[in-house]
Amino acid sequence: MNAQPDKIKIIGLSGSLRKNGLTKHAINIALTGAKQMGADTTLIELRNYELVFCHGNEQEEAYPDDVHRLRKEVKSAHGILLGTPEYHGSYSGVLKNALDLMSFAELEGKMIGLIGVSGGSMGAISALASLRGIGRALHAWVIPQQVAIPEVDNVFAANGAIKDPQIESRLLALGNQVAKFSFLHHSNTAQQFLSEWEHAPANPGGTYTK
Ligand SMILES: Cc1cc2nc3c(=O)[nH]c(=O)nc-3n(C[C@H](O)[C@H](O)[C@H](O)COP(=O)(O)O)c2cc1C
Repeated sequence: MNAQPDKIKIIGLSGSLRKNGLTKHAINIALTGAKQMGADTTLIELRNYELVFCHGNEQEEAYPDDVHRLRKEVKSAHGILLGTPEYHGSYSGVLKNALDLMSFAELEGKMIGLIGVSGGSMGAISALASLRGIGRALHAWVIPQQVAIPEVDNVFAANGAIKDPQIESRLLALGNQVAKFSFLHHSNTAQQFLSEWEHAPANPGGTYTK
């Protein structure tokens, strides 16, 4: 049984490479929500990583150090606030590639909260649905709450301050929830439950006696 961690670590991962992108402002507010619950938080901006395209399991040794740095940082987190801009009705290619460069080692069992921003009126809703599917494929726990932000240029001021208090409180609540569920998932009680679950017989209503 893993020991309950002293501190929950939540990372934000932004799928925009733009220096003044708005996705990261939304993620930062959600990270504040996680911090309010006592979590340690870090924002990961993919623009600070020199990634390559995923080779598909071949030549892993040829990957640059930044691929391993990204993997290590994501692996060390208990929860992830995953944000994407809407690109052509879906999430960004750079985020897909970053996720393809990772696997179960980094994402299985992680709590994930999704955030999408779009220039238009859809709020990246299809992108969020696709990311939910990726979470399922990697055995992550994508929490039911998510935040979709349409017409994002009207939501943030040039300095990154948010102008819409309702969206702000939804982002804070998302970060809150991801931190809370990450904590619960790693609590001694949950670890005990998981251990009993793994060792439970196939027919617990039948012959199981403890
Ligand atoms: C390649 C590309 C495709 C885009 N496709 C859409 C789209 O399908 N729907 C939409 O509402 N906005 C679309 N946008 C606008 C972005 O969602 C918007 O500019 C967003 O703020 C980008 O996120 P960022 O500010 O974090 O970089 C697109 C932008 C780019 C660069």
